[in-house]
Amino acid sequence: MTVKIGLLGFGTVASGLPFLLQENAEKIQQAAQDEIDIAKILVRDDAEKERLEAAGYDYHFVTSVDEILADNEIQIVVELMGRIEPAKTFISRALEAGKHVVTANKDLLAVHGKSLRSLATQHGVALYYEAAVAGGIPILRTLSNSFVSDKVTRILGVLNGTSNFMMTKMVDEGWTYEKALKTAQELGYAESDPTNDVEGIDAAYKAVILSQFAFGMTIEFDDVEHRGISTISPEDVALAQELGYVIKLVGDIRETTSGLSAEVSPTFLPKAHPLASVNGVMNAVFVESIGIGQSMYYGPGAGQKPTAASVMADIIRIVRRLKDQTVGKAFNEFSRPLQLAAPEDVRSEYYFSIVAPDKNGTLLQLAEIFNAEEISFKQILQQVADGHQARLVIITHSMSKIQLENVTARLAKMEDFTLQNTFKVLGE
Ligand code: HSE
Repeated sequence: MTVKIGLLGFGTVASGLPFLLQENAEKIQQAAQDEIDIAKILVRDDAEKERLEAAGYDYHFVTSVDEILADNEIQIVVELMGRIEPAKTFISRALEAGKHVVTANKDLLAVHGKSLRSLATQHGVALYYEAAVAGGIPILRTLSNSFVSDKVTRILGVLNGTSNFMMTKMVDEGWTYEKALKTAQELGYAESDPTNDVEGIDAAYKAVILSQFAFGMTIEFDDVEHRGISTISPEDVALAQELGYVIKLVGDIRETTSGLSAEVSPTFLPKAHPLASVNGVMNAVFVESIGIGQSMYYGPGAGQKPTAASVMADIIRIVRRLKDQTVGKAFNEFSRPLQLAAPEDVRSEYYFSIVAPDKNGTLLQLAEIFNAEEISFKQILQQVADGHQARLVIITHSMSKIQLENVTARLAKMEDFTLQNTFKVLGE
């Protein structure tokens, strides 16, 4: 038999699917046990259709989604357009029409995943999205299948290639944020509006999805505190180096005694930590669990062939389940009521960079402020002391989010002190 699929969009990732279908025809046939045929492809307009045809693509291009949704022979719809609309409407209509859906759309799944998943369940169809998190790294199915007997306690991830490329240049070459961004844009990594990549939004979307697979909890996007890399200065980068750390944008999801905490923030990683050597556009997901212990999944988080390989794996899984008559099972069956962590239970070490008068008594004053919140110092460094001003750098012992908030408020009240930056530090 042949299973017909309809593609929504024919950009970078989608145009990688024919390559895999051709190169791996025999292996795919063995796994799927049926032929897979790209029956129709939705493109934007006639101009795009003509451009693709002129480029030698021999497919049935259509410009109206109805031609795919009303086609009873098409059983699987593959959405690779990205962003929320019209993808949300098209996927909802496909599910309602009884079609199985594969997508790589993390924005959509992070914000509307709950309703789309229940729509899929209601209609007994599959909704798979392996490529939505860390593109080419097969992390979702690994969490869902291979971790089935294990209990994940924490996930740390370098989840955005664009910002990781920028951070790598800022750390290794001493580039400024502005220079790193300009180069990322020139190389086509960052979009002309790079907000989602550099402000931790893209990584926070991925953290929402990882929370479901690793902890069974559907956290809302708004509950994932996120902060980007735009405030990191070359001085912070140099100081991190001096203190034995590398700064990266890290997604951190963990289960505390009171519940789940998920955040994305620039983080000081000890140089020996496996995530510290994840450089350039690469992604990695570091998992801590009670069974396997520590494991890390490393690979390309974007790009044509890596992402297409993940999308193809979802398609093949659906085709095989159609054959086995087991289709419709949820991608992830682990589900628990959401319980958010109390801020006093979310604890980390922190870095503070403070500019203060270079005179006697300053350090004592600072020590009193931190002591008032029962925060203890792990490392202190004094820099650029010129008789007028000094930069004081503190790494604290583990402290809670409440203590962080309180000490930041106390520092803000001190006229002589300027708090330049605060970052999370991953303990040894
Ligand atoms: N823009 C993302 C990144 C890839 O730079 O990693 C897709 O999520």
